[in-house]
Amino acid sequence: MAKLVYLMRHLRESGADRKLQQLILELAEASKYIAHTIKTGEMGYAGTSNLYGENQLALDLLADKIIKDRLDHTGLVSYMISEEMNSIVSSHENAMGPYSVCYDPLDGSSLIDTNLSIGTIVSIMPGKQVLQPGKNQAAALYFLYGPRTELVYTVGNGTHIFVLNDAYEYILQSEYVTLNGFGNIYAPGGLKQEWTASHTLFINHLEDEGYKLRYSGAFVADINQLLAKKGGIFTYPALKGKQEGKLRMVFELFPMAFIIEQAGGAASNGTLRILDLEASDFSQRSPIYIGSKKEVALAAEFLKRI
Ligand code: AHG
Ligand code: MN
Ligand code: MN
Repeated sequence: MAKLVYLMRHLRESGADRKLQQLILELAEASKYIAHTIKTGEMGYAGTSNLYGENQLALDLLADKIIKDRLDHTGLVSYMISEEMNSIVSSHENAMGPYSVCYDPLDGSSLIDTNLSIGTIVSIMPGKQVLQPGKNQAAALYFLYGPRTELVYTVGNGTHIFVLNDAYEYILQSEYVTLNGFGNIYAPGGLKQEWTASHTLFINHLEDEGYKLRYSGAFVADINQLLAKKGGIFTYPALKGKQEGKLRMVFELFPMAFIIEQAGGAASNGTLRILDLEASDFSQRSPIYIGSKKEVALAAEFLKRI
């Protein structure tokens, strides 16, 4: 039988700073509580809304608290902000930790009642600044809570996938995951009637070329599908009357762009590389085209046309 590779050992051999390794291990511990809470916790609304006017679920808030409390105790984090918080918070009074963290505690939470897969997304920045260009990230990771719980991480040395086993340990499933130059699935976000003409032409082109529709409503699950199927594209475009699209740069786009680039893919806002962007505010959104290089480049070609 092949030898099991535990997360701790993989991190140790990753070349990442010791404190960064420790921080990722702490997040991995937090995810186990989140996975359990999703399975057994209260499914309804919390009766509150976040900064974006979205109704918060009890599970959104629980996942947020599980991560925040965990990070607070590590001493490894100066500042943190999540999609469910209204402002950046400092961890520890003196904010002395070597990293700052942005996270989406429960991505795809509107799917909870459907029992489809959802996730957690985390971006780790060096130092005390939460708002930095995406390319400054020290690490990015996501957890997928599906039939199996998975952890996918990068510290800038490839993208690696782990699966939680029955002893609640993350075991390496595949390392240095690589997307092919092109794929055959597409995940088109946003209402079709709100798409721009050029985006519509791009999606029509994919359909004419025989791409298979694969959109779940949870960014984590859709990105994980691109990694598992080794290519294709996910889009959440600029919409008529909503140029910035829906997904949030620091919580969702930066970490996923890092993970996909490290797997040999690409991520752009239609013209610019996502990781070259810097959010001026933590609530900033951006359109996204992410996946294999060919489809992301093709999207840019189509968007130039009109
Ligand atoms: P969140 O649950 O963190 O608010 O994120 C939802 C996001 C993302 O997961 C998904 O790709 C997208 O919203 C789905 O949006 P639509 O419902 O508009 O398809
Ligand atoms: Mn989300
Ligand atoms: Mn969320």
